Amino acid sequence: MDTYEITGGKKLSGDVTVSGAKNAALPIIVASLLADGETILKNIPDLMDIRTIITAIEHLGASTEFHKEKNTLKIKVGNIKNADLPYDLMKTMRASYYVMGPLLARIGEADVSLPGGCAIGERPVDIHLAGFEAMGAVIKLEHGYIKARAKSLKGAEYTMRKISVGATANIMMAAVLASGRTVLENCAMEPDVVDLGNFLLKMGARISGLGTERIEIEGVKKLNPVEYSIIPDRIEAGTFLLAGAITRGKIKVSRVVPEHIGALTDTLEEIGFRLEKGPDWVKISPSQKLQGTKIKTLPFPGFPTDLQAPIMSVFTTIPGINVIIETIFENRFTHVGELRRMGGDITIEGNVAIIKGVKGLSAAPVMMSDLRAGASLVLAGLAAKGKTEIRRIYHSDRGYEKLSEKLQALGADIVRVRGGNP
Ligand code: EPZ
Repeated sequence: MDTYEITGGKKLSGDVTVSGAKNAALPIIVASLLADGETILKNIPDLMDIRTIITAIEHLGASTEFHKEKNTLKIKVGNIKNADLPYDLMKTMRASYYVMGPLLARIGEADVSLPGGCAIGERPVDIHLAGFEAMGAVIKLEHGYIKARAKSLKGAEYTMRKISVGATANIMMAAVLASGRTVLENCAMEPDVVDLGNFLLKMGARISGLGTERIEIEGVKKLNPVEYSIIPDRIEAGTFLLAGAITRGKIKVSRVVPEHIGALTDTLEEIGFRLEKGPDWVKISPSQKLQGTKIKTLPFPGFPTDLQAPIMSVFTTIPGINVIIETIFENRFTHVGELRRMGGDITIEGNVAIIKGVKGLSAAPVMMSDLRAGASLVLAGLAAKGKTEIRRIYHSDRGYEKLSEKLQALGADIVRVRGGNP
C-alpha cells in the first residue's frame, strides 16, 4: 500500500487550482439516470469515490466514458437493467445510496444493501426512507437489503427531522419525476445540494427554493440529458487554505467560490491570518499575532464538519486555547490520537475538543482513518519537524485529486511512496 513521506517545515507559497466538488459530482452522476440519452459532465475530479459511483451506475445499465485528463464524464442511459445495488458497492462507499431516488423515480423499485456504520459514526438513512415513504413507496428490510417499491411516486409534504445533505438530494431526485408537488422542509443548503438542483433544473425539472430550508418541486413527465459543469470543491479549497495557515505560507487558492467557504475564512481571520478574496480566488498570508478561537460544526452555511479534522491540525499550532464542538457526526475525532502522537495537546470531552497550541509538532509514523482525518495528518506533517510517514493513504485518494502533486507545486516536501508500509 502506498504511503506519504512528508518532511515538514517548508512554508508553502504559490497558486493552487481547486478540482470539481466530489460531493456535488456524486449525486449528479447518479441523477443522470433520470434521463435517457447522453449526459456530459465536466469538472469531474478523478477520485476513487467517483470511480465507485461510475461502477454503480454501470451496474444499473448506464455506459460511461471517463476522460480523466479532461475531467469529463460521458454517461449514456437507455434501459435501466438492474434495480439492485450489491453490498460490495455499498460497503465501498455510502454515497452509492443515492441510486435509490432515481431508481424509484424511473422504475419504481430499488433494492439497496443497508449501509452499515462507518469510521465517523452510525450514519443511519431513516430520513431518506421516510421521505420515500411519504411519496408512497413501501419499504422493507430483508437480509440486509432495503427493498423499496412504488407503483408511482406521488408528490408529498415532508419535513426532515434533521438537516441531511444526502436525504435532501435523494428525495429531490425522486420527486422531480413524481406526480404532483413535493414540498420539502428543513432541507440542507449545502452548495453540493444546490448544484444537484441546478443540474436537475437544466434537465427540465421544476424546482424552487434551492439553497433555502424549503424546496418545492413540481414533478414533470420526462427529463432531458444535458451538458453540465460541476462546482469547485469547497472542502479541497479549505484544506489548501489550511495548508497555507499551518505552514504560515502565502497561498492563492483559485477556482473557488469564496462564499462557499465563508465560515472557514471568517475563522482564519479571527485567528489573525490575513485573507484576501476575489471573484473566484482566496489568498491567505500569515501575521505575527495569532490567537486561539472556537468553532462549532454545523450544516451550511455553518462551519463544515469536513474541515473539522483539518482545522484541528492548524489549531495545534495556534498559541492559546482553541475549542471545537462537533455537532454533525458522533465519532469524528479519530485523528486526535494520531495528532497527539505528533505532539498535539488535545483533550476530548464528549463532542468537544480543547486544543492548546504547542510550539511545534514533531514527525511520527501515523495512519489515516478516513478521508478528512487523513487530510489533517497531511497538514500536520507539513508543519512537523522531521519526516512524517503516513499510512493508509487510500483514504485521501477517495476525495483529494492529485494531492501530493498539488502540494509539491506549492513547495511542500511530500513524496508518495509506492507499495510502502501497510
Ligand atoms: C454528506 O454526507 C457528505 N457526503 C459528507 O462528506 C459530509 O460530512 C456530510 O454530508 C455533512 O456535511 C457526501 O456528500 C457524499 P448527512 P451525508 O446526511 O449526506 C444524520 C466527506 O468526507 N442522518 O448530512 O451522509 C447523520 O448521521 C463526507 O466528503 C440521520 O440521522 O450526511 C449525521 O449525523 C464524509 N439519518 C447528520 O444526519 C439520515 O437518514 C448529517 O448527515 C441521514 C442522516
